[in-house]
Amino acid sequence: MKKPVSRVLIINDEPLVLKEFVKGLNAAARSLDNPLGIAFSGVTTAREALATIEEDGDLQAVVVDDKLYTLNQKSPKKEMSALELVQRVTRFRPELDVYILIAQEHEDEIVDALFAEAVDGYFYREERDYRGMYRILNAQVQERSRTPFYDQLKNYVWMAKDSWHTPGHSSGESLRGSPWVNDFYDFMGEHIFDADLSVSVKMLDSLMEPTGVIAEAQTIAAKAFGARRTFFATNGTSTSNKVIFQTLLAPGEKLLLDRNCHKSVHHGVVLSGGHPIYLDSSINAKYSLYGPVPKKTILSAIRRHPDAQAIILTSCTYDGLRYDLAPIVEAAHAKGIKVIVDEAWYGFARFHPAFRPTALEAGADYATQSTHKVLSAFSQASMIHVNDPGFNEHLFRENFNMHTSTSPQYSMIASLDVARKQAVMEGYKLLSRTLALSQELRAQINSTGVFRVLELDQLLPEEVRRDNILLDPTKVTVDIASCGYTVEDLQRELFDRYNIQVEKSTFNTLTLLLTIGTTRSKVSRLYDALMRIAREGRAPRRLYRFPEIPGFTRLRFLPRDAFYCGGELVPLVDEKDNIRRDLLDRACADQIVPYPPGIPVLVPGQVITREIVHYLVGLLRSQKRVELHGIVYDGYLPCLRVLKPAEERGLRRIG
Ligand SMILES: Cc1ncc(COP(=O)(O)O)c(C=O)c1O
Repeated sequence: MKKPVSRVLIINDEPLVLKEFVKGLNAAARSLDNPLGIAFSGVTTAREALATIEEDGDLQAVVVDDKLYTLNQKSPKKEMSALELVQRVTRFRPELDVYILIAQEHEDEIVDALFAEAVDGYFYREERDYRGMYRILNAQVQERSRTPFYDQLKNYVWMAKDSWHTPGHSSGESLRGSPWVNDFYDFMGEHIFDADLSVSVKMLDSLMEPTGVIAEAQTIAAKAFGARRTFFATNGTSTSNKVIFQTLLAPGEKLLLDRNCHKSVHHGVVLSGGHPIYLDSSINAKYSLYGPVPKKTILSAIRRHPDAQAIILTSCTYDGLRYDLAPIVEAAHAKGIKVIVDEAWYGFARFHPAFRPTALEAGADYATQSTHKVLSAFSQASMIHVNDPGFNEHLFRENFNMHTSTSPQYSMIASLDVARKQAVMEGYKLLSRTLALSQELRAQINSTGVFRVLELDQLLPEEVRRDNILLDPTKVTVDIASCGYTVEDLQRELFDRYNIQVEKSTFNTLTLLLTIGTTRSKVSRLYDALMRIAREGRAPRRLYRFPEIPGFTRLRFLPRDAFYCGGELVPLVDEKDNIRRDLLDRACADQIVPYPPGIPVLVPGQVITREIVHYLVGLLRSQKRVELHGIVYDGYLPCLRVLKPAEERGLRRIG
């Protein structure tokens, strides 16, 4: 098994003193218990220190000598004060432990100056207590690398208690001896079953009222992600979003949201009974990509709806577009509106400066992250981070518990604990590698001469060009228009012939997702496949795009009120295939979502127009296979569920 390496950097500009410290500390590390492979090295200038922090992914802590770097002001001789250096280090890699080596004479001054900074501790230089220093540094790195829940789960499994509780497979016993299903046991592996336990096991704490190892794991995660509180969720960010809505919104209260938000957000609106104010996203028509909501639209909605309780935005989007969140948060907070950011695709961002600021760093009150999408957690494992100063924990807990199964998957909780540990201990190093691979892959794809990676400029819809939108380079969108395949045929070719499955597509693009699990061999295989396809030299095909989604019309009723009406089914077309006029101006009872692109054309309570019906009929008639979620078939006839006139009369109108 690979052993970890943990380097600690000492920054001191007196070479002899530095040498003595490094030697003394390394001797202590050799003679004392050292499970994390701690080793010390030194540099004499702030410049070298910053270069090392950037280059050395195994670095876990820095010790900055205050005496040699003037603390409060820049001196012409020294490049940077200790205070400034500490600030630069913590801004660049907030996960590192930072210690100050102080001289006895001006101790108070130093502690005061650094009070507001993320300093983990102080040592007196003159004590030269290398063994004492080593013990403290070692303990701190061990603290960060702890996985309290995962450790407890392992302990329990090794205790091998007899199970007289759920689940019924009883540590796999029901499967292991079976001639019919033992292959499932063998395929999945023994620990999947051993670790699949029940709430009856008290030493594993309770996800619904954590006071033990789950609480501890969540507290460590909060520190790692820069949150006041963090909660582990075991039904994906789909559930995390709903929990937050139900906490912040009482029925009828306003929520500002991007119409392009994930469907869980729209479902959350129905569940909470909130009054949604939809903000239309920007559209890049050339590639059928839906981008961020223009800043102008957001700021104007905040001005027009100061009574809104919350705003939710997706950052980054599926295609990697990131909002400039700070000014939006500032405007929302000025009106007392809470900011929720769906970071389903951005859970790693805290661990590399190339991706920051995170939503929380930009001032958001809540961030939801699908840890499973982009870090090493099992599918459905998600985190809710809270920085809301007015956080109502009791209400949150009630809503969290409303959505949480009383039989959570313990391996999933353990995977959140482990994913956090990995992000803290080696996230910077792995993300640096992912960024390098992304750059290589982009260059290789472009070198095919046929496939072309779309950069920020080409991805950005016109309306948001001046909104300081940034691109997450781990999402790679490729223009495939010149390759001579339709996007469906290309995906089939990549899958059948080259064993490659991509993340998503539009009519003329493919999107590839790089994560900390992307390897150089995968990059080479993808490049090889694309180069071979490019060399086939096919003539470009005509590609048919989907029509643009019609703009949002009008909400007549709250989505929840409309959804819970029985309604009636009305077909989209009559026997002669003409649009049914009696659908027009009716209120829809369901959410109608063409997939792709997954944006609702209608939400419950929304008024149906001719343009919308035309759009839906057009999709149904097109040759392309589009899923149309929410359409009901009455025999062969595609129908919409709409409110009956009597139901409409009985509901409160909102528009
Ligand atoms: C923006 C966004 N939010 C939330 C979700 C839901 O996340 P999960 O799959 O963890 O439930 C997704 C899933 O694709 C998403 O794209």
